[in-house]
Amino acid sequence: MSCSQTGIGLAGFGTVGSGVWKIIERNGGLIGSRSQGDVSLAIRKICVRDLSKKRDVDAPDELFTTDLMEVVNDPSVDIVVELIGGTDAAFDLVAAALRAKKPVVTGNKALLAERGAELFAISAEMETSIHFEAAVAGGIPIIKAVQESLIGNQIEDIVGIINGTSNYILMRMTEAGLGYPEALKEAKDLGYAEADETLDVNGWDAAHKAILLGSLAHGFLIDPTQVYVRGIEKVTPLDISFASDLGYVVKLLSFVRLRDNGAVEIRTQPSFISKTHILASVNGVFNAVAVKGDGLGDSLFYGRGAGQEPTASSAISDLAEAARSMRHADSNRGFLPYRTDGQLVPIDETETSYYVRFSVKDQPGVIAEIASLLAQHEIGISGTHSPVDADNPDAEFVEMVFLLHSCPFGKLKGALTKVEELDCLTARPVVFRIEKI
Ligand code: NAP
Ligand code: HSE
Repeated sequence: MSCSQTGIGLAGFGTVGSGVWKIIERNGGLIGSRSQGDVSLAIRKICVRDLSKKRDVDAPDELFTTDLMEVVNDPSVDIVVELIGGTDAAFDLVAAALRAKKPVVTGNKALLAERGAELFAISAEMETSIHFEAAVAGGIPIIKAVQESLIGNQIEDIVGIINGTSNYILMRMTEAGLGYPEALKEAKDLGYAEADETLDVNGWDAAHKAILLGSLAHGFLIDPTQVYVRGIEKVTPLDISFASDLGYVVKLLSFVRLRDNGAVEIRTQPSFISKTHILASVNGVFNAVAVKGDGLGDSLFYGRGAGQEPTASSAISDLAEAARSMRHADSNRGFLPYRTDGQLVPIDETETSYYVRFSVKDQPGVIAEIASLLAQHEIGISGTHSPVDADNPDAEFVEMVFLLHSCPFGKLKGALTKVEELDCLTARPVVFRIEKI
């Protein structure tokens, strides 16, 4: 069976946008065959900021514009692909496309996590779908897995390494001993980082993705202001090295965890996990998302979490889905929230074990002072680590690590507020959660 072409308006022709072009050029025929003639994609408009910029693919000049609304208004465009990033111009573009009843494909997790409430409302009103497989975990088809393949499951737990840039940086710091700035530069040169890498390294890119996974799994829109987020900017080679001494690696982990009372724990932070845990071997730009469903049990989705063609691969799967649903009466409406009563677990009530590093003056009684304050707050110590600098055994200042038994985060914060009042401390304590997953 052959079909008429579906016109694509491509807003953004950078890393991912030009990847979409490349894959359609290379595999357009294959997509037609694999969809049994149902999907034939033709890019009819491309919007960029700078027409004179040199591109790594050769698209005809007449397709290009710098006017985003041309992508929506061109009558030959049936589906709008938003790959410009950001939350302002991208919002206007996506809203306009939906209002024109043109389905949208986007890789923009910041847009959907921050302004999804408005966009999903327009999507519902206009009965026009938003597809966002490329927004979470790059090339891994995790959106369709959670939304469709696991529809028969209560999703109990999602734990993910879902920012390729951070994971790449942590790997290079751990394995090659690179400093943070050098590792970040490499990630940018490889096309993994966002145009503004702030969201990658401050944890928010991963948090946005966790918010989307949480909404898909539990059906309600999650307010980003209620979500706990820490990034990797302050992870030091010293803590990476101490983690290794203790049998752990540092990973930026995101959690979406259903509690027995129906509330959802959602948080993103650099954490310690055992070197023997399967997530410890997820390196470089690779992402992994462990999903536990009440029917399925444990599962693990693994693949490239960023980069040109892995991400374009996800966008094209959405394009095929949107193109198909435009041709058939049982039109797919993408994701729409289906409840408003969802609750999040306050971060202070979340519980793990901890690694806490204290920078202290090396004077008698320091350990006892800290231990005593922890005891007063009923926090147990499971171990300590305080390597002596062989070149300077009489150093005036030392790093002292306490490994703490599991307790609520709020309790730990209370204890550390008191510890920080001690004269012997020379810096704020450094805390990592130790995750037993
Ligand atoms: P990028 O390389 O910076 O490309 C952005 C493109 O959008 C460029 O072609 C730029 O034009 C164009 N653009 C930006 N603002 C515009 C505006 N106001 N009007 C017209 N054109 C505009 O970004 P990217 O890495 O491809 O990322 C695109 C989106 O995909 C982002 O939302 C990102 O979060 C998401 N994403 C990226 C990856 C990845 O690995 N890179 C993975 C998953 C999701 P010029 O070329 O003229 O500058
Ligand atoms: N900057 C993102 C990352 C791109 O590094 O994971 C993929 O969403």
